[in-house]
Amino acid sequence: MPGLIDRYRARLPVGPATPIISLGEGSTPLLAAPRLSELLGVDLHLKLEGANPTGSFKDRGMTLALSKAAEDGARTVICASTGNTSASAAAYAARAGIRCVVVVPGGKVALGKLAQAQAAGAVVCAIDGSFDDGLRLVLELCERHPITLVNNLNPYRLEGQKTAAFEIVEELGVPDWLALPVGNAGNITAYHRGFREAVAAGDAAQCPRLLGCQAAGAAAMVRGVDIGDPETIATAIRIGAPIRRDEAVRAARESEGAFVAAADEEILEWYGRVSVLEGVFCEPSSATSLAGLARARADGTVEEGARVVCVLTGHGLKDPETATAHSAPTLRSPATLAALERIALG
Ligand code: F0G
Repeated sequence: MPGLIDRYRARLPVGPATPIISLGEGSTPLLAAPRLSELLGVDLHLKLEGANPTGSFKDRGMTLALSKAAEDGARTVICASTGNTSASAAAYAARAGIRCVVVVPGGKVALGKLAQAQAAGAVVCAIDGSFDDGLRLVLELCERHPITLVNNLNPYRLEGQKTAAFEIVEELGVPDWLALPVGNAGNITAYHRGFREAVAAGDAAQCPRLLGCQAAGAAAMVRGVDIGDPETIATAIRIGAPIRRDEAVRAARESEGAFVAAADEEILEWYGRVSVLEGVFCEPSSATSLAGLARARADGTVEEGARVVCVLTGHGLKDPETATAHSAPTLRSPATLAALERIALG
């Protein structure tokens, strides 16, 4: 499969002179989920964005952002990140031969994501502050110096991310609902744009209804106000001041969708279920889409039998600490047949 710029070149802002910085992103699996469908009373499909090269949907935007940065002769790119953006920026910057600086909230980033940014040779800076603090600082730095921002305020990020909607429509048609986790609210904005471009004449009535799912401790969209001290186990979406708030509100309104919050316990419950029942290992933040869908089924927002796509935004290996802390412990055994027999036969 080609990377997504090659696949969707005609619908993306690239020209013949744009160098294509790609790691073969996009074209991710869309998997039917029969057991979770039965549990939730819907026809559920999972969009496995963890299958992207660095393990998250961020690669869709980053291939375009770094291609355009390279075209413009950028020397340094920078982002604030809860982890996945930094891993993706670091990898695509490495591919482009451009220096990369990432700013993360100290102590609040899953281990795998930090390891990725470090391995790719990025300058990794942990601040004594939140993601929102980091983004504010990075924006100021970009105003003062010739450094290219690759957060989702960079317009090319959303252009790349909208291609996930193209893939869904090509493969499944238009679902009734699309559920996805919402942090900074860039991805929901990108899906809205992508669906509108994919359906006839941009007719909003033909787009899926968008269900923006948040962690209860960081539910700035659900509450309608920014949150000064967001907290959740879903660290990827531990964000109090969504930078794309207005567009996300419009995306939900125009699609006749909704925002919904789920408690950390519910997020962990669905994080476990999607692994055990479907064999799909996603990171906790990604399971917020399932926990939110369960809430929306319980209160009747999502109707029985609806065709739903849940976007699982990041791979489970990003966060091995949460996986091991919330699964059955490893058994210890002497290296004897008798001991192993007892265990294996249950
Ligand atoms: N899921 C995952 C796994 C994420 O990493 C993010 C955002 C989201 C969902 C939410 O997407 O911000 O567009 O609403 N992660 C950013 C980062 C903030 O820095 O990696 P959003």
